[in-house]
Amino acid sequence: MPVTSAEAALAMLRWQIAMGADEAIGEIAQNRLAPPPPSPNLAPITAPPRPAAPLASPSAARPSPARPSPAGPSIVAPPGALSESLAEAAQSARQLAAGAETIAALGALVAGFDLCPLKRTATNTVFIDGNPAAPIMLIGEAPGADEDRIGRPFVGRSGQLLDRMLAAIGLDRTGVQITNVIYWRPPGNRKPTTAEIAACLPFVLRHIALARPRVLVLCGGTAASALLPFSEGITRLRGRWFDLAVPGIDAPVPTLAMFHPSFLLRAPERKREAWRDLLALKARLDEQDAAG
Ligand code: URA
Repeated sequence: MPVTSAEAALAMLRWQIAMGADEAIGEIAQNRLAPPPPSPNLAPITAPPRPAAPLASPSAARPSPARPSPAGPSIVAPPGALSESLAEAAQSARQLAAGAETIAALGALVAGFDLCPLKRTATNTVFIDGNPAAPIMLIGEAPGADEDRIGRPFVGRSGQLLDRMLAAIGLDRTGVQITNVIYWRPPGNRKPTTAEIAACLPFVLRHIALARPRVLVLCGGTAASALLPFSEGITRLRGRWFDLAVPGIDAPVPTLAMFHPSFLLRAPERKREAWRDLLALKARLDEQDAAG
């Protein structure tokens, strides 16, 4: 059956989405099939034909120096410039976050914060879901496609699993508050960088200080390594309780690390350990209730 150009275009779009290229980041679509515009300032390059390089010679293995693109110079930044600007972002986030007296005010500051570059490619700021007055706080990694579209954390497939996990110990979103260590979706769902996490962390810490949770649950390795001073991975940290010192709160916050629901979707055989961690969470909450 002949393939129409519309079908071919659709197939190409689907392939791009499957490869993670699911964000349009330019205002105007680029026609990459159009011939490059003639460059009035450049004489045509008339380099003599190069002799064919022998296969696997030492020079063939050497990387060739970068050449400017024939379509015009691309803007480059010196190495370190981005992380310097992200360090400034972290500094500015610290100052802003310190001034928030309520979680709602903090959410408004996060929504207006323009110094994390992830915001430029995101559709929505994803700050909180659940009940901001709830004494149980869960922190995940970063919004995915569904969260970015809807503007709330954990509303996609991993959120549905999270809901089932909470229900297994008698909880739902009215009794917990949920946020992430990153408020904007990283393009293609890549892992957030250390600098991006550092730019959001002052807000996350202020959120914990304002929420004063009875327990804090860190879902996954990214949240655990952002908030705990250990270099071990989540497989070693999960199921352990930590007393987390948070600026602005006198008593340390009892903190449990767990597997991330999206990891459990990929590795259902690890649900047994997650179930043990949920029971440990329930036992801790029951102890706290009994102690009044
Ligand atoms: N994964 C996360 O870590 N957070 C979300 O909000 C959704 C998926």
